[in-house]
Amino acid sequence: MKSAENFITLGIESSCDDTSIAVLRGEREVLSMAKKSQVDLHRDFGGVVPEIAARGHTDSIFGVLETALRDADIELQDLDLIAATCGPGLVGSLLVGITLGKALALRTHKPFVAVHHLEAHLSANFLEYEDLQFPMIGLLISGGHSCLYHLVQPGQYEILGESRDDAVGELYDKVARELGLSQPGGPAVDRLVQSSDADPVKFTPPLLHSEDFDFSFSGLKTACLRAIAAKNPRDGIAKGMQNAVIEVLVAKTLRALETKGCKTLVVAGGVSANRGLRDAFAKECEIRQVRFARPSIPLCTDNGAMVARSGYDRYKWGYRSSLEVDAFSRMPLQTLLEGGLWES
Ligand code: KG4
Ligand code: ZN
Repeated sequence: MKSAENFITLGIESSCDDTSIAVLRGEREVLSMAKKSQVDLHRDFGGVVPEIAARGHTDSIFGVLETALRDADIELQDLDLIAATCGPGLVGSLLVGITLGKALALRTHKPFVAVHHLEAHLSANFLEYEDLQFPMIGLLISGGHSCLYHLVQPGQYEILGESRDDAVGELYDKVARELGLSQPGGPAVDRLVQSSDADPVKFTPPLLHSEDFDFSFSGLKTACLRAIAAKNPRDGIAKGMQNAVIEVLVAKTLRALETKGCKTLVVAGGVSANRGLRDAFAKECEIRQVRFARPSIPLCTDNGAMVARSGYDRYKWGYRSSLEVDAFSRMPLQTLLEGGLWES
């Protein structure tokens, strides 16, 4: 029996438009992380086209696997566990990753663990921080989700609020496209905001004063599109939009920390790479003596390493998945166990 620190997990991520596979040793040593982005495949369509995404994963996944194994300097038979994202996400894309995962599990006679994409995003923080203390508040902000969680203990989560309409990443991508910036829009807006000293256009932060922990970003998107049509300066719009986003995300997250009496905040998901947002949280958390964890930039967006860590944790807690496990387009975090992902 291998020691825990030498246990090797393969993590496969294919829920949207990134094919990524990583090799993890023990709890946090990422031996390799290979990634193939599909940005070029979808550029002309104004968004991710599910059919093209699934084909893109099929075309690149074996090459990504080969790179991950080679960079980690390991063979298939060295793997102890195979983990793959099975939802939420695009079903055709997810099927490519989980089918590879199941085939590898069959071939190597090693266990397979299905991974919940949102739990994996949160796990990116456990890869990089050793001493995070539950209970925590988790803010998950990506292209598909904007959610505030109370992370009570490992594997036990309570959802406090989520977006009533668009995810915050969708807002960034849509507004960036209309501003003529490159995709994905978040990093492009982030760069523009950092490099400009224009005055921000004033936008109202949506649902700032609502008593719940919900978000809403579609009204802000409409307001930005109106400002573009009215020929306001590009960088002023980008700055104003980002200011409104940061104000509402920070205010609601701080209120969640206070309401739940938590002293640890973890943020995750592609939008958590945003520099303005990271700086704002760092400042507010320092004032309140709250521990603030955020993944390093490559681990904010979709990646195989977070999937490996999430799969490893579930395995350690006694969960296994059958090779019958399916892909799920929707999978609320609070119904993790009802989704039939695992047998314990
Ligand atoms: O987590 P992710 O890779 O995929 C999903 O699970 O959705 O997140 C992708 C989203 C995109 O909308 C992208 O524009 C956004 O994350 N994003 C950013 C930044 N980097 C990526 N948004 C704002 N600022 C960034 N620096
Ligand atoms: Zn994601």
